[in-house]
Amino acid sequence: MSDPAVACTGLRYSFGRTMAVDGLDLSVASGEVFGLLGPNGAGKTTTILCVTTLLPVPAGMVRVIGHDAATDRMALRRLLGYVPQQLSADQSLTGRENVSLFARVYDIPRRERAARVAQALLAVGLDGVGDRMAATYSGGMIRRLELAQALVSAPRLLILDEPTIGLDPIARTDVWEHILRVRAATGMTVLVTTHHMDEADRYCERVALVHRGRVRALGTPGELSSRCAWSSCRSCATTAPSSAPGRSSPPCGC
Ligand SMILES: Nc1ncnc2c1ncn2[C@@H]1O[C@H](COP(=O)(O)OP(=O)(O)O)[C@@H](O)[C@H]1O
Ligand SMILES: [Mg+2]
Repeated sequence: MSDPAVACTGLRYSFGRTMAVDGLDLSVASGEVFGLLGPNGAGKTTTILCVTTLLPVPAGMVRVIGHDAATDRMALRRLLGYVPQQLSADQSLTGRENVSLFARVYDIPRRERAARVAQALLAVGLDGVGDRMAATYSGGMIRRLELAQALVSAPRLLILDEPTIGLDPIARTDVWEHILRVRAATGMTVLVTTHHMDEADRYCERVALVHRGRVRALGTPGELSSRCAWSSCRSCATTAPSSAPGRSSPPCGC
């Protein structure tokens, strides 16, 4: 059997006295679309940062396609495409220039760069507007541009942290359709965080419900909802496990 795309065992990370990730266990199979679902502050981004090696792993173990995050950082990074939660495209460059920058960062050979950049723009439906300034793009186009930046290295694992945050429903669907099309064409694994239960339900094959730094429930969206393991705020869609100690509703305060 192939190595899991991502394996975390007993992962812990704290910011001072805040325990952001508190003994998290996770195994993402090769080729699956896997969602980390949970309310703000659950520890999703911190987990992702440990998986990408942008944060160290102070306790526990993280492996990506057989590479240990603590000892094999550079090899692990070469397998990844990462779209961070914060918007990161440079507004003062064109779409093509933004993706080219990443092609250089990923050390794609100079003679292949233009073709790989064009291919990445095509994959996210921005091939017709690649020479426009990113400042003129809509929110959904910027997100797709960031997806192209992450795809230019042909990653085996694509990690997206809240890829549809702040987008309207049509732009959200559009971003997801591009992600799933590339995944169908390449077989890459997709690990995504979201606090939208409906998004996890529609697009993820398996979901881990994260709350207070741990996985509280795991399964297909159908399995999780039939066990009523979560509840969701009707106003902001923040989700929390209804079985969490001391909580009967999501902790968003809406
Ligand atoms: N740079 C930081 N400094 C201090 N505390 C942080 C920092 N980043 C995150 N935290 C805290 O760690 C916890 C988990 O945050 P995070 O991983 O961002 O959760 P999520 O992505 O699920 O919203 C929260 O309590 C958050 O306030
Ligand atoms: Mg986050």
